[in-house]
Amino acid sequence: MKIDIKKIVIGLVILGLVISFPFLFNNAKQGKDTDATSKGDTTETASDDDKSEDEQVQIGILQLVSHPALDAIAQGIYDGLAEAGYKNGEKASIDLENAQGDQGNLATMTQTLIAKDPDVLVGITTPAAQTLANAEKTTPVIMSAVTYPEEAGLVASENKPGGNVTGVSDRTPVKEQIAQIKEVLPDAETIGVLYTASEDNAATQAKEAEQAIEELGLKSETKTVSNTTDLQQISEQLASQVDAIYVPIDNGIASAMVTLVNVTDSYKIPVFPSADTMVKDGGFMGLGVDQYGVGKQTAEVIVDILKGEKPSDYPIKITTATTTYVNEEKAKELGITIPDDLLKDAEIVVPSEEGGN
Ligand code: TRP
Repeated sequence: MKIDIKKIVIGLVILGLVISFPFLFNNAKQGKDTDATSKGDTTETASDDDKSEDEQVQIGILQLVSHPALDAIAQGIYDGLAEAGYKNGEKASIDLENAQGDQGNLATMTQTLIAKDPDVLVGITTPAAQTLANAEKTTPVIMSAVTYPEEAGLVASENKPGGNVTGVSDRTPVKEQIAQIKEVLPDAETIGVLYTASEDNAATQAKEAEQAIEELGLKSETKTVSNTTDLQQISEQLASQVDAIYVPIDNGIASAMVTLVNVTDSYKIPVFPSADTMVKDGGFMGLGVDQYGVGKQTAEVIVDILKGEKPSDYPIKITTATTTYVNEEKAKELGITIPDDLLKDAEIVVPSEEGGN
């Protein structure tokens, strides 16, 4: 008796599965089609049929980490592409992967993006572009906001990249930044330089800064962090030895400005960063590029490449910072007066909530 019931139940379950299988399968397929615009869809690899059916271009974007500057750049890319007719979900299928600052994630996400057989790959930041370029030698790799592409080993030269990599570079005029520090703090003797050791973008800029500091007859003191966890301790050491801290366009520090600023506030010294977003997040003042504009410019390069231009002959577009951003609240807090001739052309930032005090 018992055994019979068991057999019947098993039989019914199997029958049920067989009957419902085609429906389940169809639903899964439909789910996928309507989901094509969602960014999180990383499980399916596009089949060749999909591509010829809808003639969408596939764009794979790799972003190192979320900090306000990079998020603005990503937005600029999406908007710029949409304005040029490549709206996500329509003529373009855009996948964005965010590595959350983790090198291991960069590598696995690169493979995920390549598996989708993209028409172009886009790397936001130097580490992201480097990981893409190391893994992919034929599909065009577009750099977005890579400060020193040549030094980072990404191109043979800025005018003639030579390989499958081209894109947009963001620069700050380092000498001018250091001259501003001296102008604001005429009595300063030692300027600290702080950056993340693994970021080639920041390392190159830090070297330029050291040179500029010494050329002005000041002393430079450089320290590197390996990640955001040792930032607290290292910035304590540095803050105790210097009159101000200069920070290059450094992703690690941009994503942990609050930690740095808590330390420098307790030592009553100002931070001079290289991005408007870092001034907003508690920096004192700095020259920075228009981040959203860098994203828009990146979209222009992507479109040119999609239309057939070759990365090897496509000169790097360079955006140079011309605006000085000032955090007046921070200046008040630290009791520092900014000379009028610096203020008159500066843009006063509205500090973000964490950066305001
Ligand atoms: N230029 C940086 C790089 O090469 C990326 C970047 C863009 C950035 N905007 C920033 C870093 C603002 C810090 C703050 O990787």
